[in-house]
Amino acid sequence: MVLVDSCRGAGLSLKLVFVLKYIHYVKFGMLELRELPPEISGILAKVKAPPRLVAHLRLVYDVAVTVTSKVELVWPQLTFDKEAVLIGAATHDIGKAIYPEELSGSGKNHEKIGPELLLKNGLDEKYTRFARTHARWNEESENIGIEDLLVAWSDKVWKGKREESLEMVLCRKIAEKCGEEPWQTFLKLDEFAGTITKDADARLAWQAQYPIN
Ligand SMILES: [Fe+2]
Repeated sequence: MVLVDSCRGAGLSLKLVFVLKYIHYVKFGMLELRELPPEISGILAKVKAPPRLVAHLRLVYDVAVTVTSKVELVWPQLTFDKEAVLIGAATHDIGKAIYPEELSGSGKNHEKIGPELLLKNGLDEKYTRFARTHARWNEESENIGIEDLLVAWSDKVWKGKREESLEMVLCRKIAEKCGEEPWQTFLKLDEFAGTITKDADARLAWQAQYPIN
């Protein structure tokens, strides 16, 4: 009898899992997001990051994992710090924990406070600049690294945005390091950008379900 009851229970749980997965599929397509690294989740908890901010950072981190894997595949001769890109993507907007109004409106205060906030909460200094450069890559273009550009690009393509000026700088940088013409680099970038932007609507819908406060 106990066995029959537990089998029935297992059947119900399976149905429930199926129904929940179906609802998720209808709302968000085939979106399967990677979890943020535990060290970063710990920092976000310490600064009391709002749910919308955590969701956004998870999305951009997930896209950055895809972007860096594609970059490694398409340009195997390119050397860059993959870990820095991933940490940068997972933390870039952390300043919005202090300025949550910038989650729904424009504002640059989060860029100013972000690096300091990360440093105070134990992140290695070499990874803190992305909280500023993700939005200021054009102002700091003299010293900007490929890692900063990849974080900035991930923060655009997750929602389907293609920013021409950013892509020009990124392609020029990759082309220079790989001995290609920038237009050749752009064709390759453009091809895999399409595989990322096709899920933009599902990502936007997924993020929107999380409250700003
Ligand atoms: Fe962002």
